[in-house]
Amino acid sequence: MSVSVSTAASTGKHRRSGSIAGCYNRAVSSTASTLAVSLESVRTRIAAAAHRSGRPAASVTLVAVTKTVPPEAIREAYRLGVRHFGENRVQEREAKRPALGELREAVWHMIGHLQRNKVRRAIELFDRLDSLDSLQLAEKLEAVAAERGVRIPVLIEVRLAPEETKAGIEPEALPALAAHVLRLPHLELDGLMTVPPFCPDPEQVRPYFRRLRELRDRLAAQLGRPLPRLSMGMSHDFEVAIEEGATEIRLGTALFGLRQP
Ligand SMILES: Cc1ncc(COP(=O)(O)O)c(C=O)c1O
Repeated sequence: MSVSVSTAASTGKHRRSGSIAGCYNRAVSSTASTLAVSLESVRTRIAAAAHRSGRPAASVTLVAVTKTVPPEAIREAYRLGVRHFGENRVQEREAKRPALGELREAVWHMIGHLQRNKVRRAIELFDRLDSLDSLQLAEKLEAVAAERGVRIPVLIEVRLAPEETKAGIEPEALPALAAHVLRLPHLELDGLMTVPPFCPDPEQVRPYFRRLRELRDRLAAQLGRPLPRLSMGMSHDFEVAIEEGATEIRLGTALFGLRQP
């Protein structure tokens, strides 16, 4: 089977924008085996990094970021054992869903900024929100989740480099938002997420990952409850993120190749 994935690369500048809902990157193509090889390599690197941090490979969840990736490549990833998928946009997830309905064990993560007017759709389309970034969004999610009788696992996205990244809340605002979320019965606060600045040398990103782990540890102590999920690390820096305690890494380029702008 020929699947539209570009040659996998282990590096790639992080881009949050550029995809148009419903349009996928079909320009580049390779074979399904490219994905199998990339996945195998990624799994080996995850295991080695986890080992270096004294943890089993199974303590790290691979979230395949499928922004601009066509449904057939997503199905191939599922066939190869991937179960967690991340999308940045409600519309794109919605456009691909009809072609993906049979992936029964798939867990869908919303990893992009969620607008409040899209909360209703998002609750139908995603299993988790990894990018909670405001009190107003938390309130809206709570209201819709209560209406539907569901409980939504969430991560709070923290902005650690305000000059470089737009998304997330400031670390200073984290304790108040977290305490508020804990009072909302239909949200389940599981941990933190961050998108650090892009640095060619992953070692330069290490302090951001360490900072997020320390923030999580402090917050968990303040709240008196565990916050087990730490979502950090992308294609070019995931090994460093794992060494610093990531329990979830979000990989697009390393699996599916470079996205078209
Ligand atoms: C929030 C987020 N995490 C992870 C990724 C994956 O990045 P990469 O392709 O560098 O692995 C993206 C890509 O759009 C993203 O927006």
